Amino acid sequence: MKSTIFIGLAIICLQYSNVNTLDNGLAKRPPMGWMSWQRYRCIIDCDTYPSECISEWLFKNVTDHFISDGYKEAGYEYIIIDDCWMEMERDPITQELVPDRKRFPSGMKALADYVHSKGLKFGIYEDYGTHTCMGVYPGVINHMELDANTFAKWDVDYVKLDGCYAELDDMDKGYPEFGRLLNATGRPMVYSCSWPVYQEYNGIMPNYEALKKHCNLWRNWGDIQDSYVILNEITEYFAMNASRIQPHAGPGHWNDPDMLLIGNYGLSFDQSKSQMAIWAILAAPLLMSNDLKNIRPEFREILINPQVIAVNQDELGIQGTRLKIDHEIETWIRPITPVANGLYSYAVAWASKRDDGSPYAIKVKLSDLGLTCDKGYTITDLFDEENKLNNIYNVNHNITVRINPSGVIFYKFTPAVHENSV
Ligand code: GLA
Repeated sequence: MKSTIFIGLAIICLQYSNVNTLDNGLAKRPPMGWMSWQRYRCIIDCDTYPSECISEWLFKNVTDHFISDGYKEAGYEYIIIDDCWMEMERDPITQELVPDRKRFPSGMKALADYVHSKGLKFGIYEDYGTHTCMGVYPGVINHMELDANTFAKWDVDYVKLDGCYAELDDMDKGYPEFGRLLNATGRPMVYSCSWPVYQEYNGIMPNYEALKKHCNLWRNWGDIQDSYVILNEITEYFAMNASRIQPHAGPGHWNDPDMLLIGNYGLSFDQSKSQMAIWAILAAPLLMSNDLKNIRPEFREILINPQVIAVNQDELGIQGTRLKIDHEIETWIRPITPVANGLYSYAVAWASKRDDGSPYAIKVKLSDLGLTCDKGYTITDLFDEENKLNNIYNVNHNITVRINPSGVIFYKFTPAVHENSV
């Protein structure tokens, strides 16, 4: 009898804890996928821009490209609709959100079915406030339970909840509440929160312990734009605030520096490699936002590079940081697997912020990176498999790396198992 009561209590406690924290078992690695906002914004005129407007055609087309062009195989999984998918009014009778009737004539459940039929997952955008950030579509406030249930009914797998037109003071309670409601539907949905960015912008220190508990990922800082300058502002934020944001990343809960720009108009080939490398170091969600119909092959190669993706998805889930800046060369470093005799391997990116024409050479002593394995390290060039670094490098050894202006060199250092080092 006693043991029955004990088991009963244990079950109640378990259920209680399950509904009061997110704990949905999702996003054990940084989510990978595609999101419409950066490239397609709020294009809603399908008569003029049929292949660019936010419509079911677009998301089906992206789904097809995931399959035919190797993105799914590379690990990209979530197809996520950002803002501008709704009618401006809720259904007058049920109060449910209504997908735009002209642009999503088959409805969201049918679109989710299509995405699922290809073995992929389906995500959607909403806003915690009265309206989404475009200012004309309804937010979830006052309809949180209904909207969580609607998303579950549509078989949504990922929800991005923005924070425009919302009371800052309500967010600490409201975001966890929406997460609880998502959980209560019984359908596991990745929960992406924007609550810290709104607080940071208003000088409020976000409660990262609460974020970890209630969200799978969260936007820390401003929107990315199709610009290398803005990209650098975001990486600068991540570098300068690392001590307070880095410890909170890990399997199931990630800092999000925003979408990948690769394949669009603003970044050169070298700058694109740089974004991919730094996003890998930061254990950032890899959410492309580009035109997969017309992407140039060299950008696609960057996006599906298996060695770089492996760093991003490393099972330890430790977010890397910027170690130093020297002659406008930034050194970014992240501990990764394999771990040998308690010593990590490391991914190291040298990102040049220089603009003086020719590639710039620097000498790097391994011990200056904090590498300590007395048997030395093997080195892999993650972007250039042809660049064979065949030796084992002692920690006192100096290697020379030569980085293109605004480009990157990205190496992996693995503790050596052999004795004969140089
Ligand atoms: C905010 C978000 C963006 C995007 C837009 C949509 O600005 O930060 O990522 O979702 O809203 O309106």
